[in-house]
Amino acid sequence: MSTDHLKIEHPIHPIPPRLLDEKNYPKPHIDSIQKYEELYKESIDNPDKFWARLAKEFLHWHKPFETVLSGDFEHGNIAWFQEGELNATYNCVDRHALKNPDKVAIIYEADEPDQGRNVTYGELLRDVCRLANLLKSYGVKKGDTVAIYMPMVPEAVVSFLACARIGAIHSVVFAGFSSEALKDRIIDASSKFVITADEGRRSGKTIHIKKIVDDAVKNCPIVEHVLVFRRTGSDVPFNSNRDIWWHDEIKKQRPHCPIQIVNAEDPLFILYTSGSTGKPKGLLHTTGGYLLGSAVSFKYAFDYHEGDIHGCMADIGWITGHTYIIYGPLANGATTVLFESTPLYPSPSRYWETVKKHKITQFYTAPTAIRLLRKHGQEHVKGHDLSSLRLIGTVGEPIQFEAWDWYDEVIGRKECPIIDTYWQTETGSIIITPLPGALPTKPGSAVYPFFGIDPVVLDPVTGEEISDIEAEGVLSIRKPWPSIARTIYNDHERYLNTYFRPYRGYYFTGDGVGRDKDGYYWIRGRVDDVINVSGHRLSTSEIESALLVHSSVAEAAVVGVHDDLTGQCVHAFATLKSDQEGTTDVKDLTLQVRKVIGPFAAPKRIYIVKDLPKTRSGKIMRRILRKIVAGETDQLGDLSTISDPSLISKLIDDVKNSN
Ligand code: WT7
Repeated sequence: MSTDHLKIEHPIHPIPPRLLDEKNYPKPHIDSIQKYEELYKESIDNPDKFWARLAKEFLHWHKPFETVLSGDFEHGNIAWFQEGELNATYNCVDRHALKNPDKVAIIYEADEPDQGRNVTYGELLRDVCRLANLLKSYGVKKGDTVAIYMPMVPEAVVSFLACARIGAIHSVVFAGFSSEALKDRIIDASSKFVITADEGRRSGKTIHIKKIVDDAVKNCPIVEHVLVFRRTGSDVPFNSNRDIWWHDEIKKQRPHCPIQIVNAEDPLFILYTSGSTGKPKGLLHTTGGYLLGSAVSFKYAFDYHEGDIHGCMADIGWITGHTYIIYGPLANGATTVLFESTPLYPSPSRYWETVKKHKITQFYTAPTAIRLLRKHGQEHVKGHDLSSLRLIGTVGEPIQFEAWDWYDEVIGRKECPIIDTYWQTETGSIIITPLPGALPTKPGSAVYPFFGIDPVVLDPVTGEEISDIEAEGVLSIRKPWPSIARTIYNDHERYLNTYFRPYRGYYFTGDGVGRDKDGYYWIRGRVDDVINVSGHRLSTSEIESALLVHSSVAEAAVVGVHDDLTGQCVHAFATLKSDQEGTTDVKDLTLQVRKVIGPFAAPKRIYIVKDLPKTRSGKIMRRILRKIVAGETDQLGDLSTISDPSLISKLIDDVKNSN
C-alpha cells in the first residue's frame, strides 16, 4: 500500500508544561519518554514478570496465581493468571469502602441538571450487597447470565457489581437497542434474569424502557424474572408473576453479602458488538485479565491520581462505559461521573457546566461529540471555568485535525494533553494511546502502543509483516495482553475465524493503519463491513438482514458513507418484490431498521431502486454503490464483471434525484 500520506509533516504538540508543574499538579506516573520506553520494553520482553508485578500491585487476590500467561494466538486459547482467584466487586468496592467509606464513588449527573446525587463507596457496597442478596433469593448463581437493560443511573452500576459479587455474568444491552435486538441478545446469552427500569430520561424525553423489555421478553420463554428499578415513577405495565419491583424487594435484603470468589478465567461479562456478518457477537471477558487491563490502563493513560474526578461521557451499554466509567476507575478507588444526559441538553454548554460543577480532572468523549459542539460554536464554552481539567481524551473513531485543534484550544486551552485512545470491545482496554506525561502528540494519531501491546502492520494481501518503520496496512497484534476477549459466547469457532485466522499467529483488529517515521500510529478505520456512526459500531450486513425481513423487500445493500458530523452514516439500497412495488416507501424501511436494531442504526438515506449492480455470479457490488453515493462516479473502477452495465446510469440518477 502507498505510504505517500505518511510523508506529510504533522505538527508535534509537546506535553503542556502545566502537566509537569509539580508544585501545583501531581507528578505524572510516567513522566518521560525514557520511562515509557523502559516499561514498554519490559512489558514486551518479559511480559510474565511485568504483568505478574502489576497484577499483585493493582488487584487483591484471594488465592495467588502461579502461571501468568498461557495459550497463544495460534490456538486462540489464551488464559491469564490461571490458578488465581479473586472477586471483581471486592476489588472495585469492598477494599475501598473498608478504608474510605465516605469517599464518593459515583457522581450521578442526571438528565435534569439538578436531580443528580453522589454515591459513596460505603453506600455503593451496601446497595450492591442488597441487590446481590436479591439476585440470590431469586436463584441467580455463579455462571448464570443476567441481562441488564438500564438507563444511566447509579442502580445500573450497582447491577453490574451485584452480578460480579455473586459470580453471575452480566450481559449489558445498550438501552437504545430495540426490543427485537434485546430479545436476540437475551436468547443468545440464555439470560434467565433481566434488570431494567420503568422508564429512562434523555434530553428531557422519556424512553419507554419497560415496554421495550416487555416486548422482548414476550418471546423469550427462558426469562423467569424482570427486576424493575423505578426511575421516573410513571405507571408502567407490571406482570406480577414475572416482574419484581426493585424498591419493594431491595429493602427486605441485608446490606451484607459474602463475595463469591471466582477463578481469574471465570467470565465477568458478555458484551455484544457488530461484526462483518449479520449476527452480533457476544464477546466474553474474564475476571482477572479484564480487571487488570482496565485498572492499569486507567491509571496510566488517564494519569489517575487520588482526588481526581473522572468524567467519561460514554454510555455504560458500550465497552467504553464498562471499562472507563465502571471497572477501571472503581478498581483504582476513583470517583467516576455517570452522565445520563446528552451534550446538547438543556443547552450546548451541558458538558462544560458538568466539568465546572464537579471539577472534573479527566474528560473523555468521542470525536462525534467534539464535532457537534464545535459546530454549535465556542460561545457555549466561554464563561465556564474548565481549569480543573488536567487532560482530555477521545475514543471511538479517528479524529480530524479541525476537531482535534478545537478540542485542544477551546476545551484544553492548550494546557491539557489530548489522549487519542484506540481500542475495541474485543481488546477490553486501551491498546494504543499517548501517555499524557511522557509522549508528545500529533493531531489525529493515537501515538504509541500501551504496555504489553506489540502492534504490527501487515500487508493486507500477502499477510506479511511490514518491518519498515514507515508502513501502511492492516493492524494486528503479535502477543496476547490480559484484557483481550477470550471467546465469542457459544461460538468459539467464529472467534477463531474472525480474529486469528485471517493472519495466522496474530490478533487481527479489522482496522487499517499507518505508521509514520516516528513510529506514531494513525488509525484509518475499518477494512471490513463494519461502519462507525457517531462512534457506534454497526454492521452493514446486520442492517441488510433487518431490511430483508420486511415482507416487501427483495434485496438490500448497505454502505457506509462519509459524514461531517457523525463520521460515517448509513445509506441503504433496496429492491422490492415485484408484487409489492408501490406498497412500501422509504419511511417504512427506516422504521423497519429502527424496529429490528434500534433508532441509532437507522439509515440516513434509503434508495428504493429497480435493481442492484451484481457480478455475473450474482454478488452485489457494494463497492460501486459506495462510489455512487460518494459522488465519485468517475472512479467506479473495473466494471467488466458487472452483469448489467446499463444499470449504473440509472442508479446514479436515482441517487441524484433523491438528494
Ligand atoms: C472500533 C471499535 C473502544 C471504545 C469505542 C469503540 C474504532 C476506536 C479509535 C480511535 C480511530 C478508533 C476502530 C475500532 N476506534 N477508537 N482512537 N481512533 N478509530 O469500541 O464499538 O468495539 O469499536 O472503533 O475502528 O476497531 P467498538
